[in-house]
Amino acid sequence: MRYTIFGESHGPAIGVVIQDLPSGIALDMEEIAREMARRAPGNSPLATARREKDVPEILSGLFEGQTTGTPLCAMIANTDQHSGDYDDVRRYPRPGHADYTGFMRYQGCADHRGGGHFSGRLTAPLVFAGAVAKQILAAEGITIGAHIRSIGGIEDLPFANREKPLTPSLLRELNRMAFPVLWKERGEEMQAEILKAKSEGDSVGGTIECAVTGLPAGMGAPDLGENVEGIVSRHVFAVPGVKAIGFGDGFGFACLRGSQANDSLRMRMGEVVSDTNHSGGINGGITNGLPLVFEVAMRPTASIAREQQTVDLENWTNATITVKGRHDPCIVQRAVPVIEAAAALAVCEVMDI
Ligand SMILES: Cc1cc2nc3c(=O)[nH]c(=O)nc-3n(C[C@H](O)[C@H](O)[C@H](O)COP(=O)(O)O)c2cc1C
Repeated sequence: MRYTIFGESHGPAIGVVIQDLPSGIALDMEEIAREMARRAPGNSPLATARREKDVPEILSGLFEGQTTGTPLCAMIANTDQHSGDYDDVRRYPRPGHADYTGFMRYQGCADHRGGGHFSGRLTAPLVFAGAVAKQILAAEGITIGAHIRSIGGIEDLPFANREKPLTPSLLRELNRMAFPVLWKERGEEMQAEILKAKSEGDSVGGTIECAVTGLPAGMGAPDLGENVEGIVSRHVFAVPGVKAIGFGDGFGFACLRGSQANDSLRMRMGEVVSDTNHSGGINGGITNGLPLVFEVAMRPTASIAREQQTVDLENWTNATITVKGRHDPCIVQRAVPVIEAAAALAVCEVMDI
């Protein structure tokens, strides 16, 4: 399976073409719509005020409810653009965003409106592709879910906890939560932190922890291009705003001793098991049969309502910009289904689907 995302934030539409899909998969369109709604901005003060229904229109690759095996193309209309808000950005790139790098890469030809192809809006088709991938994986007994692990330094419980152990049903429960956390009170504190940053004309970042259960041991390889950490990272870094990834204990490994970090192997009912999962389900680039667990760091939204220093790309002089437009004060909660989608597409690659 390969996918290509197309479109710009303020163009007529965005979408995705998925190639090399197996034929004969009956797609549950209601389930796909539910996944899309999880990412859509909705009616929350925690997200951008842009209103988009994000209903995908299937243009090809689906016949009588089943995939044909030829390219599956889904298109999502853009309906709520305020392009005038972005006139300044063409000349004065937003610090932290991709306006300057996009200008250099595409010699000033990129569509700057609403962040163009770099907009978080382009993650809607990614969620569509991920929803298709999730349905294929569910038939193989594989479940994917994620939660907000932290926002602005306020931490949720990790998946590695005694109170709410990591199971497929916990992941499905998280899938249905608007603000998915394991520790409700901490979730409320996080939401208050987002609103505080917003009221100060600022933004806040955080981390998302994602898990995949049901993966068999022995998938992947140690080599470049085939190792599971590399494949997952490549898919996850295609999500705008992701700045770091760690598997299992991730950066925490650096502070542990071997005796603390190793996952002891045991035989239980004829199977190799382990009571801990410090390695996040991967050793030597190969799955070990434990859940695949990784955590990503998302940057605080670059577009903040404060005057910032930048440059003038017409006169090549110093300048300032006060960003206009409607922005997410925090992208973490909206990125949860997007990270799950990237994980689903990565797992399909690992499993050669
Ligand atoms: C769901 C989602 C929504 C986003 N919303 C915004 C936004 O409103 N304003 C903004 O500046 N960046 C937003 N971003 C992040 C930018 O798209 C991203 O920072 C930019 O493309 C630069 O890429 P980088 O941060 O990976 O370097 C969003 C990202 C996601 C995943």
